[in-house]
Amino acid sequence: MHTMSYADRLQSALTEPDRHLLRGAASIAARLNRPLYLVGGPVRDCLLGRPIVDFDLTVEGDAIDLARSIARELGGTLKTHERFGTARLALPGRSRTIDLAMTRTETYARPAALPDVLAGAIQDDMARRDFTINAMAIRLDGDYFGELIDPYHGEADLQHGMIRVLHARSFIDDPTRLFRAARFEQRFGFAVEAATLNLIPPALPVLDQVSGDRLRHEFELIFREDRPERALTRLHDWRVLRQIDHELIVDDQIRAKFQSRPAPFEPFACWVWLLGHCSPVALMHVTQRLNLLRDDAIDLEQVMALRDQQTLIGNAPSASALYHQLDYFGDRALQAATAAIDDERARANIDRYLRELREVKLSIDGTRLKALGLPEGPEVGRILTKLRDAVLDGTVSGPQQEEEYAQTLIAQVN
Ligand code: CTP
Repeated sequence: MHTMSYADRLQSALTEPDRHLLRGAASIAARLNRPLYLVGGPVRDCLLGRPIVDFDLTVEGDAIDLARSIARELGGTLKTHERFGTARLALPGRSRTIDLAMTRTETYARPAALPDVLAGAIQDDMARRDFTINAMAIRLDGDYFGELIDPYHGEADLQHGMIRVLHARSFIDDPTRLFRAARFEQRFGFAVEAATLNLIPPALPVLDQVSGDRLRHEFELIFREDRPERALTRLHDWRVLRQIDHELIVDDQIRAKFQSRPAPFEPFACWVWLLGHCSPVALMHVTQRLNLLRDDAIDLEQVMALRDQQTLIGNAPSASALYHQLDYFGDRALQAATAAIDDERARANIDRYLRELREVKLSIDGTRLKALGLPEGPEVGRILTKLRDAVLDGTVSGPQQEEEYAQTLIAQVN
């Protein structure tokens, strides 16, 4: 049990400049008689004794209007989203922006639809949220500073380490909450409460109605966690991954790939680790379903092609043969492929290609071949390739031998 007041706990979760800014915003709200709250994630983090990095503020009534007053008086700038009634504030002394929204109620026209938004009271704003631990607010204006709004006993759930939805339709309204449940559970070392777990199976089919972009975003948020494989394992256990594609799984091998490197992870590397075992058909399905970025999809396909050719690559008979096998592939795919390839000789060969073979430079170029009497045309490229192959295989070395070999090759053409 904490003996410190919420006001004190809030103060100690803030840096000095942030404390100053928040006080400034709160006193403007108080003067205008506008109840202002810190809501959601930052409240949760503050009660966990973690520092607050991002501010989410809500105000009862018009948020844009209040944001304008704050920006004017504290010397900041703002961007507004009239349609959602939200504003993003950039204030002096703070590198990250602050979001200000109106307290609102949300309804879902159909499962997985984006919500329809109406102005509401702070209690309505709490009621629309995902989990009890994210459905708390701390009031900031005037004498109310430090008052905790906790209608769903989020503070108790934080103490017990519980992830609990607010109502039985929560996952059906918004199946991306399945990803969020796994993410928060594993980030904090909590457990999803039993009754909440029971709500998962009926929500699985609704996942099919969520857009690829939203699903991809949830994966990428998990990739940003310290140990993404833990949340991904939960999604596997809950059959969320299967719902997206039968081949999308998390097993010991995949976990080991995540564990073999420290965070932070490149999203692309995570996709390779997660999808490295998929068949070409499943890979195509997943990349389309999750609407992966074009470059990511192309490079992933290359990684899979490298994986499927690993025996050939491992057995390349010569340096020049290896060069021709790998020449077609992009850098990122080659570098990432080592995570999807088991054959050690193939891995070593890719490494050798990246570090050594592709760095090999000829001392002769097309202009020099012309000076040696070779007419312009396709032979120029062919001879340069033969020269490079000879240098790679060590049958020719040094500028003089290169020149002699070039002359021999030109004589054969002429
Ligand atoms: N929220 C929700 N349902 C969602 C997404 C968000 O109810 N599908 C609510 C939660 O109350 C959440 C708040 O909106 O706390 C802000 O969402 P977000 O910024 O995504 O989460 P944070 O809780 O701030 O988490 P993080 O620490 O990962 O930023």
